[in-house]
Amino acid sequence: MSSSGNESRDGFTSRFGIICAAAGSAIGLGNIWRFPYIVGESGGGAFLLIYLGFILLLGIPVMMSEFVIGRRGQRNALGSFKRLAPGTPWYLVGVMGIVAAFMILAFYSTIAGWTLAYVVRSVSNAFAGMTSQQISAEFGTFHTTTFWPLVYQLIFMVMTAWIILAGVKKGIERYAKVLMPFLVLLLVIMAIRSITLPGSAMGLSFLFKPDFSVVDSSVILAALGQAFFSLSIGMGALITYGSYIQKNNNLSNISIQVTLADTLIAILAGVAIFPAVFAFNLDPADGPGLIFSVLPNIFQQMPGGYVFAIIFFVLLAIAALTSSISILEVVVAYLTEELNVTRRQATIMATSAATLVGVLCTLSFGVMEGFTISGLTVFDLLDFTASNLLLPLGGLLIVVFVSWYMKRDDVRDELSNSGVLKVHLFNALMFILKFIAPVAIAIVLFDSIGII
Ligand code: PFF
Repeated sequence: MSSSGNESRDGFTSRFGIICAAAGSAIGLGNIWRFPYIVGESGGGAFLLIYLGFILLLGIPVMMSEFVIGRRGQRNALGSFKRLAPGTPWYLVGVMGIVAAFMILAFYSTIAGWTLAYVVRSVSNAFAGMTSQQISAEFGTFHTTTFWPLVYQLIFMVMTAWIILAGVKKGIERYAKVLMPFLVLLLVIMAIRSITLPGSAMGLSFLFKPDFSVVDSSVILAALGQAFFSLSIGMGALITYGSYIQKNNNLSNISIQVTLADTLIAILAGVAIFPAVFAFNLDPADGPGLIFSVLPNIFQQMPGGYVFAIIFFVLLAIAALTSSISILEVVVAYLTEELNVTRRQATIMATSAATLVGVLCTLSFGVMEGFTISGLTVFDLLDFTASNLLLPLGGLLIVVFVSWYMKRDDVRDELSNSGVLKVHLFNALMFILKFIAPVAIAIVLFDSIGII
């Protein structure tokens, strides 16, 4: 990728390509691993409603704002702020995004490594004939050991780096395009199997029947963090991708479509997981291991489950890859464009640094379990800090930048492709960006820190 003028920037070649790439970034472990376990820990239905509220009210506006900044700035997350607001401290939002990217990549690769391990275990039919308790115990043993989780994490990071090295068009677009529809199909099949299991009804009411008595400020903060994490917003991944979007693509439509797809898949994952959780007498508040304890049970109960399990974990690993490349791309685009290192050097540097921190995340389930900072393991600390604090704070600053700092006409110009498209509800959008979104995010953040 070139670091000089706009003309030579590498970019997405088609509208379908950019939607797939942005959706590929959004859809990942966040939907299928993180969403169910956070819902489970946060008491179910009420969390889901609050989450959906944040997606609508904040998700779409923040995503549009990131695309506007990126496509107008034509640079990485930090460089776009520098270009649009030269001589101001706004570039610090980009710095924050790069820090968040490192943290997320580190703990993301731990879970992606587990996913790869489950591909292998599905192939070797490792769970055949096991009870649900035995399957949970198996996961407990696996993820607390040192060697294999680290090996799989390393393999995942190498795969991520390899795709990033292939460049934007050839790499990201090609991989994102074809495979995600299959994942959706598989989830639908799994959801059907799950809700037809004996004893599954309680799972659906857990997911869809809100009980507001369980809601406290930590649940609201968790819903905010999950909304940002799942949509890949708040740290500049979509600023970076926005800078690769062609001038004739419709930013509002892309935002709405990506958000819809992401949200549907999360709910689908919830419908696949929770009925099975209750049918197999497992604990919804089981934590980060939830899907690894639940899913093998579903496959055991499915005709063709052996094959389904393999395909599912392969697709989940690919979904994780299309997300992890968008995280690594934030750092690589910054290093190549601002610090003038080659794409190869940038990829190697960023991947090595994130892997080092990632090792600590993986070990924090095993030998480093007792090493905690304010009660949180390294894994939990990075996840909490990045997802629940840095992403919402980044999102707050991003909407403030677009609505208070940028010229209103420039924002309209970007959303309308210089007057070609009609922008629906522009005034309403600006009102949300100016007042509602920043105030809502600030209230949740302050409330959780205990300032309010
Ligand atoms: N949205 C991704 C997922 O749901 O798995 C994770 C992610 C990607 C978070 C990119 C943040 C980001 F910038």
